[in-house]
Amino acid sequence: MAKMSKGLEGKVALVTGAARGLGAEIVRRMVAVGAQVTAADKRVADGAAAAAGAAAQFIELDVTDADQWAAAVDFAAEAGGGRLDILVNNAAITRVAPILDCDPAEFRKVIETNLVGTFLGIRAAAPKMASGGGGAIVNLGSPSAFEGTVGMPAYSASKWGIRGLTRTAALELADSGIRVNSVVPGPLRTAMTRRPGWEDDDYARHYGATVPLRRMAELGEVADLVVWLASEQASYCTGGDYSADGGLGAGPPAPHPG
Ligand SMILES: NC(=O)c1ccc[n+]([C@@H]2O[C@H](COP(=O)([O-])OP(=O)(O)OC[C@H]3O[C@@H](n4cnc5c(N)ncnc54)[C@H](O)[C@@H]3O)[C@@H](O)[C@H]2O)c1
Repeated sequence: MAKMSKGLEGKVALVTGAARGLGAEIVRRMVAVGAQVTAADKRVADGAAAAAGAAAQFIELDVTDADQWAAAVDFAAEAGGGRLDILVNNAAITRVAPILDCDPAEFRKVIETNLVGTFLGIRAAAPKMASGGGGAIVNLGSPSAFEGTVGMPAYSASKWGIRGLTRTAALELADSGIRVNSVVPGPLRTAMTRRPGWEDDDYARHYGATVPLRRMAELGEVADLVVWLASEQASYCTGGDYSADGGLGAGPPAPHPG
């Protein structure tokens, strides 16, 4: 019987924001399907622990720092015999404050982390990928990249920016064999959505009311889409937004029957 491919065998990957939440799950799932993964994060202790638990290696990386990006790409490629096949730009932050109360320094920090960080990652990784014949870049988007989001002006703007950057990178890098896509997750129960004082029921009630599938996403439901886009199975996909959003992008949920 022919050996079944596990999906990312022999592939070398670098995943940012991998100390916790979705990034850590992406690392676990990529390792499980055969990739050699470097987990990167500015949170060193949590990042190293998460990577060790996933049989990945860890490097400290602040995605706003171009020099650290160069070192992270070299580190990931060195462990992979000189090649880099996959980059996942997952690291992000948010700040909750309406525009009139939003400190400009905080606005800049969100744009710098989410949007400029993604740009720096593409810039650092693409030449290494191209020299190996190509690769796949997956950027983390958001439903906030398709509409305005009250109280999160910088986050929404950064994620809209990532959509433009994803398309532009897909066009510019196509001839180098590099595919670039974005994944649009629905709400995940992570540090990013944690609200002081909320219990399980509060999360279920809040997100049950806003998502057509009436629940938050499991980390694996989003991570698997990232893994698929990074794999050869998605070989004709580039420049697109791919949703695992519980139907959020389709519109508001139907009224409850009864
Ligand atoms: N949580 C959600 O509901 C949700 C919904 C849609 C999209 N997303 C997106 O999914 C991705 C993962 O989000 P999450 O919920 O796991 O968030 P999280 O806050 O749990 O994890 C984010 C990780 O990014 C890291 N990070 C932050 N700034 C960094 C920097 N400058 N350099 C390196 N690492 C940095 C953090 O240390 C953390 O480990 C993000 O891009 C987020 O915008 C999340």
